[in-house]
Amino acid sequence: MQYKHHWHCLETADEVASVASQHILDAAKLAIADRGCFKLVLAGGTTPEKVYRLLAQADADWRHWHIYYGDERCLPVNHADRNSLMATHAFLEKVAIPDTQVFTMPAELGPEQAAALYQKTVADALPFDMVLLGMGEDGHTASLFPGHKHDENELAHAVYNSPKPPPERVSISAKALSNTRQLIFLITGANKQEAVMNWRSGLNLPIATIRPDGPVDIYIDRAAYSNT
Ligand code: 6PG
Repeated sequence: MQYKHHWHCLETADEVASVASQHILDAAKLAIADRGCFKLVLAGGTTPEKVYRLLAQADADWRHWHIYYGDERCLPVNHADRNSLMATHAFLEKVAIPDTQVFTMPAELGPEQAAALYQKTVADALPFDMVLLGMGEDGHTASLFPGHKHDENELAHAVYNSPKPPPERVSISAKALSNTRQLIFLITGANKQEAVMNWRSGLNLPIATIRPDGPVDIYIDRAAYSNT
């Protein structure tokens, strides 16, 4: 399970953000040179914010970037807890990616409608060039939570009773998140140590269901990395 996983263990969360953001920028240059566009799936939560702020300071060929979200909380569009609000303030409003190339999840419509609409967006986008994902303390990723059952053939899921508030969400599926040329996990903080250890020991956590054919790079700080 781990043979395609490249673990990059760095001292601090700032170093994780610095190295990961450079990886993303390098991947974008190659994708745009090869195929004329860079289709990037953004991670939610708090960990990626440092990466997004560094991307916003970079000089890149933004007009060829296409932005998607791995998951979104079912909250009003401008709610402070929306993943799209964080990404917009930290990154998207500071760079010239055309608005028509930013595919925000319509999560304010509720899980079912948002998943049905985003299913089409994902179908049109696949394969992604790069997917960014975080990991929760229980080993969840995007809004794929332990114990939650989904139709594995879906490209996007409606999520209810999320153990991480808010209870209703929409998530790209493991199948679609795995349909990417490259994938990066961003994991920092001592509170993730147990989930990292469980993942590395082979527990079938949601994060373990993300299995791209291509390379998986895990950028992790010392606090999150358990030495076992
Ligand atoms: C969300 C995220 C979620 C997140 C992890 C880690 O909507 O909450 O998509 O999957 O990536 O819970 O969150 P932190 O980065 O805040 O630790």
